[in-house]
Amino acid sequence: MYRNAVFLPILGFVLSACVSSPVPVASSEPPDPAVTAIRSDDQEPLYLDADQPVSARVEDLLGRMTLDEKIGQMTQVEKNSIQPGDITTYFIGSILSGGGGSPPHNTVEGWTAMVDGFQEEALATRLGIPLVYGVDAIHGHGNLYGATIFPQQIGLGAAGDPDLVRRIGQVTAAEMLATGIPWNFAPIVAVPQDIRWGRTYEAYGEDTDLVAELSAAYVQGLQLLPDTYTAAPGQTLYILATPKHFLGDGGTTFGTSTTDGYLLDQGDMRLSEDAVRRLFLPPYQAALEAGAMSVMPSFSSWNGVKMHAQEYWITNVLKGELIFDGFIISDWAAISQVDFDYYTAVVTSINAGVDMNMVPYDYKGFIEVMKEAVQAGDITEERVDDAVRRILTTKFALGLFDHPFADPDLLPSVGSDEHRRLARQAVRQSLVLLKNEGDVLPIVDGTSLIYVGGQGADDIGIQCGGWTIAWQGSAGAIQPGTTILQGIQDRVSADTQIEYDPAGMFGGMADVGIAVVGEHPYAEGFGDTDDLRLLQGDIDVIDAVRAHSREMVVIILSGRPLIITDQLDTADAWVAAWLPGTEGAGVADVLFGDYPFTGRLPYTWPRSNEQMPLNITNVSGKTGCDAPLFPFGYGLGEGGSQPIVQPDCR
Ligand code: GLC
Repeated sequence: MYRNAVFLPILGFVLSACVSSPVPVASSEPPDPAVTAIRSDDQEPLYLDADQPVSARVEDLLGRMTLDEKIGQMTQVEKNSIQPGDITTYFIGSILSGGGGSPPHNTVEGWTAMVDGFQEEALATRLGIPLVYGVDAIHGHGNLYGATIFPQQIGLGAAGDPDLVRRIGQVTAAEMLATGIPWNFAPIVAVPQDIRWGRTYEAYGEDTDLVAELSAAYVQGLQLLPDTYTAAPGQTLYILATPKHFLGDGGTTFGTSTTDGYLLDQGDMRLSEDAVRRLFLPPYQAALEAGAMSVMPSFSSWNGVKMHAQEYWITNVLKGELIFDGFIISDWAAISQVDFDYYTAVVTSINAGVDMNMVPYDYKGFIEVMKEAVQAGDITEERVDDAVRRILTTKFALGLFDHPFADPDLLPSVGSDEHRRLARQAVRQSLVLLKNEGDVLPIVDGTSLIYVGGQGADDIGIQCGGWTIAWQGSAGAIQPGTTILQGIQDRVSADTQIEYDPAGMFGGMADVGIAVVGEHPYAEGFGDTDDLRLLQGDIDVIDAVRAHSREMVVIILSGRPLIITDQLDTADAWVAAWLPGTEGAGVADVLFGDYPFTGRLPYTWPRSNEQMPLNITNVSGKTGCDAPLFPFGYGLGEGGSQPIVQPDCR
């Protein structure tokens, strides 16, 4: 199943034994005596003996490592910054692709060549410790062209189906391992309290229990070894999940971000410890109970102190109270935000409990600072050993020492019909019917003329949102799949004529008009906003389609609820479709009644900008025009809510 998987580490071990000495990192230290002893050992070292318990393999390996090799394991570099040969020279333990970090040839073969190439450099080190490669496959292997792209988490929160989420985790894992990538920086287990946050769509919803249940399901789906899979001895993980961002990334106060141009992202959480524990800790408990072995701290702060510097939360609570024995991976250059002085920032974060630094650029600088701090006693060898022990334990749990390369058997599964059918099901289950006056939905078969307006009706990139091919995502035909319009065109019979215009400009009168409006892609703080009203261009499309349609439906593509109050009466029906991913045909499945509407709001839907932040923790007692437009959990359709009679608040 794997190319020479076991042979290479030993080859690396033998090759390095031929080297005169391990290449020191910017130091003239003689090789550690313990190191030379290995070369005379003609027995296979214990850590390479797959029949040994993982704990014994870890301790044997740790005991053989030099300080340089240990620090290398704590170093994660982004793939465009690592210089050829430096993985071997600096014993680098991990490489990542950030958002958009695709190889020149964005194909499974191109990814496999890139990732396996880095891995071979790691296996060529003296001890042959495999590296672990990470990506943000937050709604499918989003950077990979041709991957199955699922609805963003907000849509899965609306679907509220743990089994569906678990199966999505399993499919995502398979498409990642086809490219040799065993680490997913997901799921976000945030519980966003203010939908003006740009990462609202990356989370499942505003309710702690909903987030905890779905987070655990996704972690299980990613990590569970498939029945048909031949695990390596001691392997317990298929893919490494990373619940993030620890903790309370969705609980920051509006306007407190420390990052230029951001409003909430990377801001300050100003809540009591009790409130933080009640709102934001349960999803981590659930994710750890599901077996998660890495956690990523947040860029944000708690009462003015960066989470990456919070020894209390990372070491005392997460590693102590919750008995977390995996490792803490920093966020992207987040350690650098802890203090203006980099030495202080590194010492503070590592001593707070961060085990691996997503540097991700200047790895030599980080390694130098680490060596200096350990030699000065500002970071103890015990802390280094604890970090490396956690990292190695996880690498053994992933079976990396026994199968470090991509699994070519999985290649056909990438973007397969089976996977796309699952994604299309997820789209169907994610749709929330907000209004359906006169039961205009489902659209009757044989309807003779349907007008479709709005750029989002025929744009895969808008359907997918951020973290797709590019970090910020982008409009356009960025991935293969089906648009909402294509789904409608494929669904109707020859008796039905479909006309499409992005601007919604039509003549005559259609039986049904459909306007697709909403947000263009964004990610992280670039999505922070103080104004969630529909854009004027969208309002114009709605009005244009309305003028030429007997019945009218509006479909919203967005990463969160938008302010639609003033437009609500214009259309007979409104559907929240969130960010459905590549399988837009799932929308038509429900529009035409092949499947019922079953989605429920994972976020409170505000009536105006002025109401925010508005969520289940502060909505009680708000009635009439102070009430939300639609409450958390609302949704018409099968087994759903009763239609809301809206008060006149003009
Ligand atoms: C980003 C995000 C984090 C992601 C990491 C690597 O800044 O905050 O969620 O996993 O960098 O892309």
